[in-house]
Amino acid sequence: MTDFRKTRSLFQIPDGTVYLDGNSLGPLPVAALERVRRMMADEWGEQLIRGWNTAGWMTQPRRIGDRIGALIGAPEGHVVVGDTLSIKVYQALAAALELNPSRRVILSDSGNFPSDLYMADGLIRSVGKGHQLKVVAPEAVEAAIDGGVAVLLLTEVDYRTGRLHDMRALTRKAHAAGVLTVWDLAHSAGAIPVDLTGSDADFAVGCTYKYLNGGPGAPAFIYVAPRHADRARPALSGWMGHEAPFAFDLDYRPGRGIERMRVGTPPIIALAALDAALDVWDGVGLDDVRAASIALSELFIREVEARCPELALASPRDPHRRGSQVSFRHASGYAIMQALIAERVIGDFRAPDIMRFGFTPLYIGEDDVRAAVAVLEDILKSRRWDQAAFHARAPVT
Ligand SMILES: Cc1ncc(COP(=O)(O)O)c(C=O)c1O
Repeated sequence: MTDFRKTRSLFQIPDGTVYLDGNSLGPLPVAALERVRRMMADEWGEQLIRGWNTAGWMTQPRRIGDRIGALIGAPEGHVVVGDTLSIKVYQALAAALELNPSRRVILSDSGNFPSDLYMADGLIRSVGKGHQLKVVAPEAVEAAIDGGVAVLLLTEVDYRTGRLHDMRALTRKAHAAGVLTVWDLAHSAGAIPVDLTGSDADFAVGCTYKYLNGGPGAPAFIYVAPRHADRARPALSGWMGHEAPFAFDLDYRPGRGIERMRVGTPPIIALAALDAALDVWDGVGLDDVRAASIALSELFIREVEARCPELALASPRDPHRRGSQVSFRHASGYAIMQALIAERVIGDFRAPDIMRFGFTPLYIGEDDVRAAVAVLEDILKSRRWDQAAFHARAPVT
């Protein structure tokens, strides 16, 4: 059994704050402070350029990739870390399209994160072979999988509503129709049990700054199924993915397996923070995390619906069809969220009217949920949210 009291002690949460936004940016793992300081002082400071060899900087993208792989059901040696998630989406999609050369449709859904759709659109233009991005409603994805589709590009958990796709069933249906799959696990990794091997996914990508608590702008990861690892052509053929980067050949030869999905120099300071953040998972069971997250989100929905009738549930009611977040709609959701944040209950807002609340049992407990709903109820009853300062939109919502 996971000891959630212990995991909570591993995070820095400011006093009096209820942090319900780990679905957007995980809080600081206390150990990351010292790890980054040590990395900078002892490795960068003392070892200078030698650190690439002596401190193992060069192999960290793979080593840390394996640590993430263990949380998403990937076999060792098939996950690598680096770049941002948008870049990893581009790489996975480009490779998948080339592995299915006779087809021209990329199928996605309107619940996908816009950056994934933008990257698909940009890739289509660069490839210039007349590919088409077909975007259907999330409920229509299954029926839209047919023999014309090259790649199914989906985010498993919808960033706005928390709706959870059935990765295993959709991948099975895709494969039966000769379609390859790219799964975006941004809102899944560290939130729910993921089994890439059992689901037979072809490619998967994700970020590490949400439920993996790697810090703002922490690098992303990419998984390529073993059967494709030495066949997938890296569209972004940077020197770190070369078979022999320090041979400085003028011609590109892809590295072995997942190595070829590296692009450029890895962000070693950020990787130090991420490595420390991943230590939190020692002794943590993802089934325990899932069960506790469901209990917390069910409690939240019950309490909000009983005490804040003006809010409408935007997430699926069935907890097994949700990820680890709960969303409510309100026409003034932005201002309400700002009022909540001013009173130290931190969630976030997604246009046009969605208030998002993430439930991360690693550092959130029942008392936090009850305290958050009490503040929310009070803000709504008193209309404290209806002030000019709370209506003014900040660049990040
Ligand atoms: C599902 C999903 N995909 C892609 C992205 C874009 O990630 P990045 O900004 O790291 O490129 C995000 C960002 O939140 C996301 O939630």
